[in-house]
Amino acid sequence: MASSAPRRYEHSVRVSEMAGELARVYGVDEFQARAAGYLHDWCKQLSLRESLEAVCRLHIPIAGDPVQAFAVLHGPIAEQTLPELFPQLAPAVFSAIGRHTIAALDMSDLDMVIFVADAIEPGRSGAWAEDLRSLVGHLNLTQLFFRCFSEGLTYVIQGGRYIYPTAIDIYNHYALLCKSSKQTMKGKEVHV
Ligand SMILES: [Fe+2]
Ligand SMILES: [Fe+2]
Repeated sequence: MASSAPRRYEHSVRVSEMAGELARVYGVDEFQARAAGYLHDWCKQLSLRESLEAVCRLHIPIAGDPVQAFAVLHGPIAEQTLPELFPQLAPAVFSAIGRHTIAALDMSDLDMVIFVADAIEPGRSGAWAEDLRSLVGHLNLTQLFFRCFSEGLTYVIQGGRYIYPTAIDIYNHYALLCKSSKQTMKGKEVHV
């Protein structure tokens, strides 16, 4: 991974470090977080053809058009591919890797840590990234995940890109969840 795509490797190292930091703040298993962060983009180098072949071979359920969803396929493909390569890692690690692209309605804490770490690692620049990084430890983990998910969705919509079909349901689910509990880790109410 390091020799073929150094920038991707550096991103993975930063996601691993950020995941470890988030794990400490939010009481999640730090080793699992670091491992999932390090491996999360394992299958990102696959071409469209290779991704579609993997989806068929591994019987991965894809919502909507898999060609349009190419950018998110590397998560679920890695979730199915990595257990054979790293049998010593817990299933929760592979779940987090699988969900870092499309998320889910029932994100575990580890799933959310990896999703957030991918979005706010220090290599992500821009006001939105700095804003989200500043909220670590101030928002609870679900609120922080929802903020990251919402930013990602906004980016997709503003760019006129294809929305993965489950994204709206996930957005609405966490919007309602966060609306019903606006309390932050430090007791301050924050609009999410
Ligand atoms: Fe990714
Ligand atoms: Fe990534």
